Amino acid sequence: MTECLELYRCEICGNIVQVMHKGADALVCCGKPMDKLIQHGIEEEKQEKHVPVFLNEREIQVGSEPHPMLEEHHIEFIQAVSDDKKHVYTKFLDIADEPKMKLNNDYKQAIEYCNIHGLWGSK
Ligand SMILES: [Fe+2]
Repeated sequence: MTECLELYRCEICGNIVQVMHKGADALVCCGKPMDKLIQHGIEEEKQEKHVPVFLNEREIQVGSEPHPMLEEHHIEFIQAVSDDKKHVYTKFLDIADEPKMKLNNDYKQAIEYCNIHGLWGSK
């Protein structure tokens, strides 16, 4: 079964989709099953920083030191999720942006997607 808010990626075309309603475990793209993105956490951090950090109650930064924003290596999006998972807030980034997001509500957890290193979460 897919679960709400899970992310899946097509290894062929690079499509990334997010589940908005749970259902059968059979998301298909380009004729093949999509791969569920597995969230990495703080225990996997190495030299480069990916885990979203709450700078304060209204701002998130990717990494304790900001993650690079280069054409070949950058953060594609940041997403904050409320504890009850009823509120989701997503910012899509351009390479000219800082890897940060201002928040409009009270969020306690966040994820981000690096085009090279994949999905990372604060929890
Ligand atoms: Fe990265």
